[in-house]
Amino acid sequence: RGPIRATVRVDANEVIGEVHPEVYGHFIEHLERCVYGGIWTEDGSALRSDTLRLIQALKPSVVRYPGGNFASGYHWEDGIGPKDQRPRRFDQAWQSEESNQVGTDEFMTFCREVGAKPFLVVNDGSGTPEEAARWVAYCNQDASGEQGSRRAANGHPEPYGVHWWGVGNEVWGQWQIGATDAEAYTKRLREFVAAMRAVDPSIRIVAVGDKVMSGAPSDPGAKWNEAVLREAGDLIDDLSFHLYQPDRDGWQDEYDPEELHKTVTAAPLDAERIIQRIGRQIKALTPEREIGVAFDEWNLWLAPSDDAQSMHDTAYSRRDALYVAGMLHVFHRQCKLVSMANLAQMVNVLPLIKTNETSAFATAIYFPMQMYRQMEKIVIQSDVKGPVFTSQRLGNIDEVVNAPYIDVTATRDASRKRVVLGVINRHPEKRVDLSVRLSGLDKLKPRRGWLLSSRDLMAVNSFEDP
Ligand code: AHR
Ligand code: AHR
Repeated sequence: RGPIRATVRVDANEVIGEVHPEVYGHFIEHLERCVYGGIWTEDGSALRSDTLRLIQALKPSVVRYPGGNFASGYHWEDGIGPKDQRPRRFDQAWQSEESNQVGTDEFMTFCREVGAKPFLVVNDGSGTPEEAARWVAYCNQDASGEQGSRRAANGHPEPYGVHWWGVGNEVWGQWQIGATDAEAYTKRLREFVAAMRAVDPSIRIVAVGDKVMSGAPSDPGAKWNEAVLREAGDLIDDLSFHLYQPDRDGWQDEYDPEELHKTVTAAPLDAERIIQRIGRQIKALTPEREIGVAFDEWNLWLAPSDDAQSMHDTAYSRRDALYVAGMLHVFHRQCKLVSMANLAQMVNVLPLIKTNETSAFATAIYFPMQMYRQMEKIVIQSDVKGPVFTSQRLGNIDEVVNAPYIDVTATRDASRKRVVLGVINRHPEKRVDLSVRLSGLDKLKPRRGWLLSSRDLMAVNSFEDP
């Protein structure tokens, strides 16, 4: 009946590393109602002020765009210039009727409005290295260059200075335009990077990697990553992977709610093992380089409800907010490996924010993303003593043994004047009585706390009750 008891020792002298701000990253794709009717109005003529306010309060560090799968068929030049002259193409089933009303310049304006760095993914499916190189030039050249002057003519004389560039998306997946094997991909990657870096040698290249679900050498993801690291490890900066948990293999008609709560809240600990496997591959195959793990699509993806608009229309509860917070703890613990992470997606697609014609609201998973932006940069050691549980395997989520109910991440600033702790209570009902011991710090006074909770465990925000 009583609360869970736990103690945590935090030692400010034991530094784990520094968190890359890009782990608080996001993703918007031309998919369903993320862009049109989500971040922008239905016709793409303006940013929606209601959505924009919510996104600004999140302080997103980086936003990935334009996809996802969409990127592999996207010709960026269709999305610049006078809006009434932009072509309307419907070569991809999920493209909206308003295609190309939002393009590069609109996306850059959005990034500026919300204070985020842009991360662009080039089309290596139906596109060419030359087309990608022109995009780099359009974004980064000064206004006197061929592409820079095109940008200036569209009203943007100052270069955008886009640092992060992805080459392709899930190229290993048969649904992807241009899907191929790792050998053919790395060959293509080399050509793309050469053309893009000829324009701007300083850009950061994120290559397509894959999740490594087991320690077996025959693991398909491990084999893909190995080939990319061997053949292109000299020229990439980050290796990406995507993970939706438990993904469609884990969709059931009915769940035991208690077991599902355990599995969902422990799932980030399984993702952590995947990150560590990829980290070990990077270390073994490119020891002389510092290639980051770019976890550039992640989210909880359970079955949508019967009245959902699409398979991506899921409702998130407090349990799911614990999932997101748990993932942020993993990014802190693994800050030496994880260079970027992008919650997929920002609006209406596995949504952090949901919109209809007249309003926008934040779902439960929005709040941990907002709260953890308060954390400091330096991750320090924290050791928790408290009860644990074992969660069951579901879909692509493996069993987790000894998952701690109480999970803590501790951060401090360089001057040791400010310490911020993140605390998760994975128990569905019990309160936690936590005692915290800080060492290696002068007297600090508690300043402020943020609590995310709900009286009803499965309560969700909605248009009626935002
Ligand atoms: O987020 C939706 C889709 O899921 C993305 O387009 C793709 O990259 C992933 O498979
Ligand atoms: O819908 C095709 C693919 O299946 C998605 O892009 C991927 O996330 C899912 O597993």
